[in-house]
Amino acid sequence: MNLGLLIVFEGIDGTGKSTQCKMLSERLSEKGIGNISLAEPTRGEWGMKIRQLLTEGRNGISPEEELAWFINDRKEDVELNINPALKEGKVVLMDRYYFSTAAYQGALGFDPKQIREDNEKFAPVPDRVLIFHNSPEKSLERIESSREEKSVFEKRDYLIDVQNIFKSFTGANIRFVSSDASLEDVHAQVLCEVQDLFELKL
Ligand code: TYD
Repeated sequence: MNLGLLIVFEGIDGTGKSTQCKMLSERLSEKGIGNISLAEPTRGEWGMKIRQLLTEGRNGISPEEELAWFINDRKEDVELNINPALKEGKVVLMDRYYFSTAAYQGALGFDPKQIREDNEKFAPVPDRVLIFHNSPEKSLERIESSREEKSVFEKRDYLIDVQNIFKSFTGANIRFVSSDASLEDVHAQVLCEVQDLFELKL
């Protein structure tokens, strides 16, 4: 029985991970490999609450509540979408997963390692995690450009912390992908980093 594959795209905004996720999906489809693309936060009940928080600001929502919403959203995603697709033998491509929770909510003060462990109790561990990063200059440019909020410095420092947590992840399933090159070159890098999971040449 084919148990499917779980490939996750992670990193701070502006690293082109969503585009690369789409490009890999197209490539797999061209090769006749059944795949599904999912994203977190989802469009479900908890995901929509999170999206409201993201657009309207935290507005008194505690870090504990925020963390709980992401976990609730993921539990629903695992049950309704991820596990069923894996059972059907599909390649599941995820634009963000629990490494985002470890990095973003970890940067709010929670222990990233603990968040990862707690998630791995209910969420399938990915076969591969691609963590996208830009050069330090490009990242900083990106971080600086998200300065629309009142607490400017907090936001900048927050994203730097998030990025540092992303960089700190270790594991046999983790690969870092530099997204400074052209879309095609980064796509080639992505294929290279997942090729060993497939019998077919991608
Ligand atoms: P994002 O991928 O940017 O969604 P979209 O492109 O649909 O707007 O995710 C929205 C934000 O949610 C992003 O800034 C990271 C944050 N996030 C967390 O803080 N924790 C998490 O567990 C996840 C999945 C996302």
